[in-house]
Amino acid sequence: MALQWTPKMSVGNEVIDQDHQRLVTLINETEAALRSSDRNAVLNALDELAQYGLMHFETEERIGRAAGCPGMDGMHSSHQKLNEQLNHCRDDIEARWGQDIADEVVALLRAWLVDHVIHEDLKMRPWLLKHALNFSAA
Ligand SMILES: [Fe+2]
Repeated sequence: MALQWTPKMSVGNEVIDQDHQRLVTLINETEAALRSSDRNAVLNALDELAQYGLMHFETEERIGRAAGCPGMDGMHSSHQKLNEQLNHCRDDIEARWGQDIADEVVALLRAWLVDHVIHEDLKMRPWLLKHALNFSAA
């Protein structure tokens, strides 16, 4: 079943929430490409996800720091780790392509989103709620 963003995942900032909704869509698209067993489509989807992820992490860290959220250095390290995992995943697909790797990638992407959005980002909510919903720190 496709992943869905729900209001329970809201971090109290609509810029970050919109990014997360787009990440959910990109993960669903990657999963659809994996199911179609079209290796090039999978690689393209992963590239788009990685690119969007990088942009999102920058935005999120900028807003988090400006809003005074604690633990932003730790968040930066975990963002870097997520990025490395995604790159590793891409290398794996290029090296060995098959059902095993497709299942592994689906599991990784889902864990990635849950750890990232649920466990890490929701910690920012009390600080983000002290600012306007569209606070972008731009
Ligand atoms: Fe995030």
